[in-house]
Amino acid sequence: MEDKKRTISGFSKLSKRKKIKWIVENFFKDPEKVMHELVSYWHKDEKEQKILDEISENTLSNYPLPYGVAPNFLVNAETYAIPMVTEESSVVAAAASAAKFWLSRGGFKCEVLGTEKLGHVHFFWPGSFFELKSHMVNLKPQLMASVAHMTANMEKRGGGIREITVRDFSDEMDDYYQLFVSFETCDSMGANFINSILEQFAQEIERYFLHAEGVSAEHRQVEILMSILSNYTPDCMVRAEVSCDIEELRACADMPAKDFAERFCKAVKAAYIDPYRATTHNKGIFNGVDAVLIATGNDFRAVESGAHAYASRSGRYRSLSHCSLEGDRFRFWIDLPLALGTVGGLTAVHPIAKRSLELLGKPNAQELMCIVAAAGLAQNFAAVRSLVTTGIQKGHMKMHLGNILNTLGASDQEKERAQSHFADQTVSFHDVKSFVEDLRL
Ligand code: MEV
Repeated sequence: MEDKKRTISGFSKLSKRKKIKWIVENFFKDPEKVMHELVSYWHKDEKEQKILDEISENTLSNYPLPYGVAPNFLVNAETYAIPMVTEESSVVAAAASAAKFWLSRGGFKCEVLGTEKLGHVHFFWPGSFFELKSHMVNLKPQLMASVAHMTANMEKRGGGIREITVRDFSDEMDDYYQLFVSFETCDSMGANFINSILEQFAQEIERYFLHAEGVSAEHRQVEILMSILSNYTPDCMVRAEVSCDIEELRACADMPAKDFAERFCKAVKAAYIDPYRATTHNKGIFNGVDAVLIATGNDFRAVESGAHAYASRSGRYRSLSHCSLEGDRFRFWIDLPLALGTVGGLTAVHPIAKRSLELLGKPNAQELMCIVAAAGLAQNFAAVRSLVTTGIQKGHMKMHLGNILNTLGASDQEKERAQSHFADQTVSFHDVKSFVEDLRL
């Protein structure tokens, strides 16, 4: 049932303090304390806070997440310290450890396989696909002319519209067609550029059929459904790879290098075969990928949805990474669709995203694709290495213990005692709490 106290109109028009006041008074038991807490996370510099506030809407405060760095990443012969924002403990440590391992084994070799972005105008038209295609000869130049003023700058940078075709979905929904447009957006992710062009194209399609010669009255009507980019970008793709002699993997585990290599490849194959395992395997990849995307102000939801679609392209959801053992060589690689930007959007606004890009040496979009794919592969390597050797809990528990101790407000001395006590014991909140309480007796 609607609770009148908890609904409001005109919330967005309130000042920030009034918004907080209304929220804390109606949703919290201890309004003053919560108000104080929310305000305590405001940036001390008003101008900086305003920048953050204006990134989103109805902002009350900031939501801090740890900003970490995984050093020693050798990617295409460049050495990087990669910035990562994540709430999950062990992720940065795992990336750093994998980076260090591959540093002396040639590092990550990355290749951009394509940079094509896509967008569609979805529309309904009562004619046949054959007829629609025949109109493209005249429609295409009109479409291009209608956006010439919008593409001029992008063209100067080497980008623009690459191809316009039409696609037929009329056998799945009556009269449903798509204008299928491919773009090169250089160093910008290009969402605004693409969507603006598509909306212009939509108007132009309507106009074309209203005025074109030789079109019967019933074929003059076009219903535009929507105009939007696609986050599925199978031709905006990067491959990242590591390889070494199998014998060099002896440092990875307490077992013969060949056994480790075989177990590792079997684990990757299991994620290729089984969608349940693939989902968790790929989640491990995104632990790395998303952390770098957030740190650099990129849209991780767009990348995630595109990559999961790509992982399902065979009709079954599969692992994004692959492993092979050929002769005495171990090879581990990932193909990842990544539509990224290093100019525009949040990358130009968020103060720390700007610093992240500076830390990475101001990469262009293709270089950032390589860095992000390397971080994803490193994360996957570290996770699978742990899974097929010690299991992941050993490393996780150490970090988990740290988090519990912080939650309990443990002193440095209590932390030290707890860390040595739990070094070879299973960590649970209950056990750590009683241990700390005993220390405090
Ligand atoms: C945990 O965040 C990620 C892993 O589950 C990934 C995997 O299972 O490969 C360890």
